[in-house]
Amino acid sequence: MRPLIDWLSGPAEPRRFPYSTVLREFHRTGKHFVERSTLVLLDDARRVAASQATGSGDAATWQLTAFLDIALDKWDGRYDYCSYLALRLLRLPCGAADPTPAAAVAVGRQARDRLLVRLVADTLAFEMAAATHSTGFLPRQRPGPAVVVKRCRLGVRAVAAALDRLGVAEAIGTGNPVTAAADLHGIARDLALSGDPSLRLTMLPVHVTHDEYLFIRMLQAYECLFAGVAEELRAAVAALTGDAPGAAADRLGYACDLLRSAGPLFSLLATMQPESFRTFRQYTEGASAIQSRSYKLIESLCRTPEADRLDSVAYQSVPEIQARVRGGQPTIEETYRSAVSDGRLTGTDNGRVARRMAAFAGALTQWRRTHLRVAVRMLGSRSGTGYTEGTPYLAAVSAAPVFTGTVGDSPTADPDGRRGA
Ligand code: HEM
Repeated sequence: MRPLIDWLSGPAEPRRFPYSTVLREFHRTGKHFVERSTLVLLDDARRVAASQATGSGDAATWQLTAFLDIALDKWDGRYDYCSYLALRLLRLPCGAADPTPAAAVAVGRQARDRLLVRLVADTLAFEMAAATHSTGFLPRQRPGPAVVVKRCRLGVRAVAAALDRLGVAEAIGTGNPVTAAADLHGIARDLALSGDPSLRLTMLPVHVTHDEYLFIRMLQAYECLFAGVAEELRAAVAALTGDAPGAAADRLGYACDLLRSAGPLFSLLATMQPESFRTFRQYTEGASAIQSRSYKLIESLCRTPEADRLDSVAYQSVPEIQARVRGGQPTIEETYRSAVSDGRLTGTDNGRVARRMAAFAGALTQWRRTHLRVAVRMLGSRSGTGYTEGTPYLAAVSAAPVFTGTVGDSPTADPDGRRGA
């Protein structure tokens, strides 16, 4: 750790922080096993960075502070889902202080599409590097060549819709999945926005098992999608309370498309080797997607959760969302009903909104069922890392209706998952 000691004994400029040295050290053992002497030095670095943050508050200081918070989560005893996934560095929602949504709808949507593509492209690049022995990172339990090809195929498919929206789909070759994944990697290089932290800072596995890379990136990718879905639902609620409630249909339709088109991400995750998952999850206790803020925001924007759910570990794990719901957060279900009963939403517009609500409910229910299937495959009867009994919890929550009363939750409400007229 000589470069870190040198950095600390000099002017300690955030811009010159020896990230590569620190990452190498973390990757050598996994975050769970990093040596105490390294963590003490990083703690010192954090103190220095924090003192500089009050003075200048520039981008380099922000990045270093965020990185050190993620690197030192276990040391501090506050390791959780947000820090495991480095959500702050990815500028994804992870606490009370959310990133401000972009002023223009298209800008926010595009930023999330770019991030999604970069995350998946990076995953596949790692798979290909490991397959060709050009990286020594996460050497344990590497998958065979057939699995790597399958991962490339599914990964490229999972981002097809985002690539289309970004207008770069044609740059991906059809045919050989490995070549297509290499094309994707090439495209993704140009998709980072200026000031985006490098993705390598957002990959701090707890162990040295190959498939933890896939696991982390897939969770990050879903967090990116959930943030987008939550944004659309929030806008749908705003539309339903205003003068043009019919506009909610488009926002619901977009949210539905986001969830559906990302289906292959779960297929990709399902290629994870269950024994690899069981190896690294020994060190992920306390980090569970039950702490996903965006997911609970989605659920609670659809309808207000029942009191027993709101009081349970499901919402205790996301206190700021629990507080919002208790504070009377408006929901789609409730604002839709008001818009109809006030006579603001009638005829064709009413039909379109109702159909898109049903389609969205179908997409979310489908997501829950797929999640349950993957969890059963990976976890069996073991308990979850979020202090639930595991898959029985998921089975119960996946049967809960997305909306009650007004529109059905059955995916058959819109059998093809198509947007309504
Ligand atoms: C190996 C794959 C996975 C397994 C074994 C798994 C397992 C579980 C378990 C057991 C829970 C219950 C809470 C707990 O005790 O931890 C849970 C909750 C949850 N998981 Fe997963 N999960 C997996 C992948 C994913 C992925 C890729 C996502 C996408 C972000 C995700 C999102 C969620 C969410 C949002 C919850 C909270 C559900 C709720 O509270 O209603 N999971 N998962």
